[in-house]
Amino acid sequence: MANLSKNMVHIINEQINAELESAYLYLGMANFYAEKGLMGFAHNFKKQADEEVTHSEKLRDYLIDHSAPIVLKDIKAPRETYEDLRAPLKKQLEHEEYVTSLIYKIMDLAIEEKDYRTIEMLRWFVSEQQEEEVNARTLLEEYDTFGSDLSLLYKLNKKLGKRE
Ligand code: FEO
Repeated sequence: MANLSKNMVHIINEQINAELESAYLYLGMANFYAEKGLMGFAHNFKKQADEEVTHSEKLRDYLIDHSAPIVLKDIKAPRETYEDLRAPLKKQLEHEEYVTSLIYKIMDLAIEEKDYRTIEMLRWFVSEQQEEEVNARTLLEEYDTFGSDLSLLYKLNKKLGKRE
């Protein structure tokens, strides 16, 4: 199997770390909502944290398939307190936009290196990021529409509790 360049191995390792850091960020948000008694919101962010771990595993598998070294790094402790119920939702959207920019940087390198296999692998992440940004934006908008009415917030919480 074709070798990955040194720069590519490095940047994919960085992305593994970023995905795990995302998992930690969302776990912190899940803890925040659990403490507020919003168990549906907490469930939603726990599920998101789990998804981020699967993203890191996808990249890890890709390196293993190419016999490339995996370098796990420290993960920063996440925030577990926020000023209000809306703040984590806004942070999630900003964070996903940031992660999209990281994926694009890897794609830029893959294109520059004519690394067609990595380009193909990254296509999945490009569409996943689109989905994650849409989901985060939708949730923020839903909160802005329903969040100030307790019975509607209860319904939103219930809906989020059903995320699979
Ligand atoms: Fe793995 Fe939410 O980006």
